[in-house]
Order: sequence, then C-alpha cells, then structure tokens
Amino acid sequence: MCGIIGYIGNRNAAPILMSGLKRLEYRGYDSAGIALVSGETVRVHKAAGKLTRLEAVLPKRPGGKLGIGHTRWATHGAPTDANAHPHLSPDGSIAVAHNGIVENAPALRTRLRAEGAEFASDTDTEVIVHLIARTDEQPLEQRVRDALAHVRGTYGIAVVDAARPDCIVIARKGSPVIIGIGDREMFVASDIAALVRHTRQVVHLDDGEIAVVDARGFRTMTMDAQPISKSPATVEWEDDAYERDGHAHYMYKEILDQREAIERTLGGRVDRRFHTAHLGGLNLDASELLEVKRVKLLGCGSAHYAGITGAHLIESLARIPASAEPAAEFRYRNPVIERDTLYVAVSQSGETIDTLMAVQEVRRCGGRVLGIVNVVGSSIAREADGGIYMHAGPEVAVASTKAYTCSLVALALLALQLGRSRDLSPERGRQFVEAMERLPADIAAALATEAHVKAVALRYAHCTSAFYIGRGPAFPIALEGAQKLKEISYIHAEAYPASELKHGPLALIEPGVPTVVALPHDALLDKSIASIEEVRARHGPVIAVTHPGDERIAERADAVIEVPRTEDMLNPVVMAIPLQLFAYHCALALGRHIDQPRNLAKSVTVE
Ligand code: G6P
Repeated sequence: MCGIIGYIGNRNAAPILMSGLKRLEYRGYDSAGIALVSGETVRVHKAAGKLTRLEAVLPKRPGGKLGIGHTRWATHGAPTDANAHPHLSPDGSIAVAHNGIVENAPALRTRLRAEGAEFASDTDTEVIVHLIARTDEQPLEQRVRDALAHVRGTYGIAVVDAARPDCIVIARKGSPVIIGIGDREMFVASDIAALVRHTRQVVHLDDGEIAVVDARGFRTMTMDAQPISKSPATVEWEDDAYERDGHAHYMYKEILDQREAIERTLGGRVDRRFHTAHLGGLNLDASELLEVKRVKLLGCGSAHYAGITGAHLIESLARIPASAEPAAEFRYRNPVIERDTLYVAVSQSGETIDTLMAVQEVRRCGGRVLGIVNVVGSSIAREADGGIYMHAGPEVAVASTKAYTCSLVALALLALQLGRSRDLSPERGRQFVEAMERLPADIAAALATEAHVKAVALRYAHCTSAFYIGRGPAFPIALEGAQKLKEISYIHAEAYPASELKHGPLALIEPGVPTVVALPHDALLDKSIASIEEVRARHGPVIAVTHPGDERIAERADAVIEVPRTEDMLNPVVMAIPLQLFAYHCALALGRHIDQPRNLAKSVTVE
C-alpha cells in the first residue's frame, strides 16, 4: 500500500530517500514526503500528487544524513499536502512515517485534544506522533513503545527525533518493515524494492518487534524491551530486475516476461522419473499429503481467481474436494478449521492484509497453511507452515500478470504432486508433466498474438461495458480477463459463467457491448458455442479466445484470437496472455495510467 524508506549514514539522505520512494511509488502514489534530520532539527517536505510534485518542492540542496520518506495511498484523510507523511510533532522534533491503520484513532484524538493537542492533518497517523511527543524523558525507543501501547490496528512505522540524530526507530505490527544493512550506513524500508540498489542483506522485523537502527548496526527487541537477535537474509532479486528494460510500462514488460518467469516457477520441480512434482518447501511428507481430505484456497483479487483455477486443478488431478474463497470473506465468517484440510494462501506480495489475517486465523485454530507467494521472506511466506515460491521476479505494475500465471503454474505443480500421491496414473502424470514443460513455448505462441490482439483492442477500446464468459475451468479465465480490463482501462467489465448469461446479464447485451468468450476445446465446447449464439442473437459482438481448428467459432465470432491447445486444466495459463494484452492495448488506446491505475494499490496492507 504505502511505502516507507529511511536512511542513516555518511551520505546525503535526500537523494537516497527520493530514489527509494521512486521504487516504492507503485505501492501508493497519491502524495509523498521526506523528513530530514540535520543539526538537531527535523525538516519535512511533502506534496500531494505524484513524486514529481515532491521533487518540485524540495530545496536545491536539502541537508541531512538521516531521514525517512513515505509515499501514500490515502485511507484516513484526502491526499493533500497536510495529510502526506511524514507527520511532525507540534514542537517540530519528531517525525513519523506510517503504513497501516490506527483503528482507535478517533478515540485517541479526542483524548489527546482534551489534553490540549492540536492536529495539523486528518490522518490516523498523527495520533502516533502526538503520543510519542507527549513525553521526552526516556530514550526514543521507549517513547515509541509507550505510544504504541495505546494504538489498536496495524502499523509499520519509522520514527526520527531531532534530539537523537544518530538513529531511526522502527516498529511493526501487521505492516512490513525491513532493515537493509550497508557498509557504515543502514536503510529501512517497507519493501525490498527500495533496498536492493544499496544492499541485498536484509533483516525482516516480525510483528510486535521494534528496532533501533544506527549507521553501524541495529538492535531489535520486543514491545516489552526484551532483546531479540536476528540474522540477515540475502535477497534473491537483483536491482536490475526492477528496471523497465526500455518498455513504456512495467505491465508490458511483465507480460512479456512470462515465458521466462514460468520457466523459473517450473525450474527443478518437475520429476520426469515418477511423473510428478518435487516441492521441497511444502514441509509435508508423503503420508501427510495422503491425509489431506480437502483443500481450501485463499487469496484476494487476481490471487483469488488463481485460487479458483487451483481448486479446479486439485479436484481434477487429485480428486480432493477443493474450493477457493476471498480471504477476507473466509476470515470473517468464523470458518470451520479442520485438521485434514490443507489451506493454501495465494499472494504475489505476501503482504495482503486480508490474506495474511486469514492465514493467522487458520494457524490460530491449529490448521495447516501453505503459502504460494512471490516475495521471498514476506509476511505470508514467514507465517505459513510451508509453501511454494513463484519465482516470478519482481512485479511492479499494479495489475498482476506474471505473478498470476506463475501462481497457476505453482498450483498445477501442487495438484500434480497431490494427484500422484493418490490415484493419478503414471501415464496421466506423464502427459501432464509434458504439457507443463511445453508451457513456456505455448506462452511464447500466445504472446505472438499481440499484433492481432492489439487490432481487436483498438476496435473495442471505446466501449463502455464488456462481458467475459467461460464455462467450468474457463470461468476463472473470464474473471481474470474482466479484472484486467476494469483495473487498467476503467471499462466496466463483468465476468459470468457462460451458463449464467441467460439468467440476467443477457438483458444488457446490445451492439456496443462486446462479450469476450474463453473457449477452450474441452468437453464443454459445444455448450460454449451455444452461448455465442445467445449473444449474437442480441447483436452483441463476440471476441473468442480459443484454439485453432474449429470452423464454427470463426463463423460466429466477430474476432477470434487463437492460442495453442494444452491440457484442459492448463488452458487458463495460456489464455490469460491474450486477455492481458487486450486489456493493456485498450488502456493504452484510452491513454490510461497503466502501471498506476486510479484508486488502486499494488499491495493492500490495510483492510
Ligand atoms: C491488490 C492488487 C491486485 C492483487 C491483489 C492481491 O488488490 O491491485 O492486483 O491481485 O491486491 O495481491 P497479492 O499481493 O496478495 O497477490
């Protein structure tokens, strides 16, 4: 959601903070600010709007070798200069950057007001600043601990104090903060994206931990001041993995990257001898795998749609009842947690709060959770009992593309292993393994449809509404296709199981409303063709995403996009590609802000 960066060392902090904020801008981009400590004063510069606005208001040579910065996605208070972080205490000595939500902010405000406090912003964060500033007799970390004892909600915070120009204090509950270890300089950030250009040695704070970071090191402790020793981990991604490689948008780069990304997801995990998958990180032995009676997939947004396909894969290959549910819905309905159910949390960032809370709820009740996660060392990866890393590489664009397809591949590997530990025959296992190994080539062929997809997109980019339909395993293809279109083009798009069209949405079909049909050549093909007829009879244009070789489709559809046919259960991976390209080219034609669409954020760390 929002992003935090901090620096302490011998260099000028401002350029380091600004370049860190650039890397974090994908997390939130409605306002930004930095606080610099120099000569026992804290100077705050902030501005509503994109980072370029902040650049414009910065003095020519902002001093200070210690500072914190923040890029915001507004929750409490509109995106204005005053509401931008860091927030400063009334006496100007303490500055705080905060990710998360202070749930009891209204009550704390009332209490602080009664004590004479005056607030300069509408944010929940400002109460933290006031709480810290209330007392000045203890060390900063103690003041932060005392303040946080009053706070209900989630936070990742970075605090600087004019009177302590030798340290940054950070604390975490529900929102990540990471320490980056440099050579006589140290960094803090909410996301490794902002750190990898300086260091690949990082320390993740866990919930309920606080740290004092100075130029030479750090001390970590619990909220009751018990010291904790933590050792650094090495980040696997290189700095240049965050570059756009000359492309106009990260999303486009990430779409093109899918062949290699999927190769990485598959790398070393396919077992040709036993026609199964080897997933070392599951932390489940063969007999534990056999005990699994049900699988529940949890995630949000595209990760939830990946979970729906995952459920189809698991039921089909392993014959284990499986279902997917949006993580927040699951968590709040007092779910029945069973010992023999395997819970699988799918998340690119590993930080989505609703998914993380669902994981915590399952584990609290004694259930076993696997994480299918992209960001190594992220909260969900750390909290799960085991899992599968996607290895998709950094995904920066808000709209998920390669992490989505890589999570499908990771789920296919899981389904294969579960299936082969039961009654999926070696022969079916072999066929599936071969299809998985052909996926990179199938993806390349799907990417080669781009010129045609672009031409189709230009024809329909000015529609105001679109439907996406599919049957069985093709329904989540429609869900994700519609999601991509609405996220980045702002065209209203809705997905339905094709069979549901006639039960309501058909009333909205008319000449200006295209219907995108995911039409794999599976057992349901004839029925899907019948759905095209229903749309055509209402003069609705039809865009078919299908495989070559069935004349009936070309005769009925207004546009046909063909991708290679693979195993039925893997079609969602290949068919996702032209739908991503379709959304991209529609958004491009409409001049949308593709990587940072309005109102959205890459990683939603607030409820
Ligand atoms: C946000 C993003 C979506 C993403 C969802 C889940 O809403 O805008 O693109 O699918 O979060 O993110 P995760 O990191 O958990 O996969």
